[in-house]
This record gives sequence, structure tokens and C-alpha cells, in this order.
Amino acid sequence: MDDVDDRATTPLHFAMFVERFGQFTVDVAAAAHNTKCEKYYDRETDGLRQSWADELVWCNPPFSAIEPWVLKAWAEYERARGIVMLLPANRTEQKWWQKHVEPHRDRPGSGLRVEFLPGRMRFIRAGHLDVKPNERPPFGCCLLIWSPTP
Ligand SMILES: C[S@@+](CC[C@H](N)C(=O)[O-])C[C@H]1O[C@@H](n2cnc3c(N)ncnc32)[C@H](O)[C@@H]1O
Repeated sequence: MDDVDDRATTPLHFAMFVERFGQFTVDVAAAAHNTKCEKYYDRETDGLRQSWADELVWCNPPFSAIEPWVLKAWAEYERARGIVMLLPANRTEQKWWQKHVEPHRDRPGSGLRVEFLPGRMRFIRAGHLDVKPNERPPFGCCLLIWSPTP
């Protein structure tokens, strides 16, 4: 799946997220060539099986299998310093969003808020150093932001 799943956040976008949320301490869905943090987990070390406790987590998960990452964030958010997850914004009808995001997001006292980002983010494909022409995906993106103390 890595051909479709290996889409790196551009340094420009990531810098904007760092400016907003602070220096992320771990990239939990990464590979050596696309990690955004010195500390990262890849397919082998498996970010889904690691503790995210005490970390400020950056997570741009494989878009082919999002649900386990959302469930992991719910399991970890109270022990993490914070979790920011970048997701496609065009899957809000799907079961995982309807079950694990929609009933909880942006509610008083909830640990989860969602921000829908402007424009269309572009991503860097594996084997490239920058965004290639026609790389703009046909969907917008959103950030799922978990905070231990809402
Ligand atoms: C959409 S890319 C994100 C790249 C980068 N972290 C970023 O934001 O620029 C998703 C990455 O997660 C990796 N990945 C897939 N399953 C994983 C797992 N169980 N644990 C950690 N990383 C995984 C893929 O190999 C891919 O490099």
C-alpha cells in the first residue's frame, strides 16, 4: 500500500503546524525518508503498538486504513501532551468518522476538536524531494486535534 499511503507533508505545511501547536516530539506514522521528527515509528516499529504517553504527537496516517489510528488516538490522548492528526476531509460519511469522530468532536468537555483546512494541500510522493505538478489531491484536509485537558 505504500505507493498510495506514502504521501509526505510538505516542510512548509509542517512548519505552519509547528508554529501553531509547538515542536512535535514524535512522528508516529512515518518512514526514514519522510519523518517529520527525529523520533519516529515506521511500519516495522509500528506506531499503533507504541506508547504515545508524554509526547506531542504528529500523525499523518496511511489514508488507506484510518480507523485504527483514530482509535489509537482515543486510547492515548489522556496520557499524551497532545495529538494532531491530518486526515482527508471527504470521508465524513464513513463508519469510522460517524462512530469515533462525529459524536465527540467540538463538544463541551470533549478532548477532540476538528479544523477543516483551507484549499487543497499537496503532498510529496515517495522518491521525490518536492511536490510534482498535478499532485494536488481531489480532496481537502482536516486536522483532528486531541488535547488531554479540553
Ligand atoms: C501519509 S505518510 C506520512 C508521512 C510523514 N510522516 C509526513 O507526515 O510527512 C504515512 C506513513 O506511515 C507509514 N506507516 C504505515 N503503517 C505504519 C505503522 N503501522 N506504523 C508507523 N508507520 C506506518 C507509511 O509507510 C508512510 O510512510
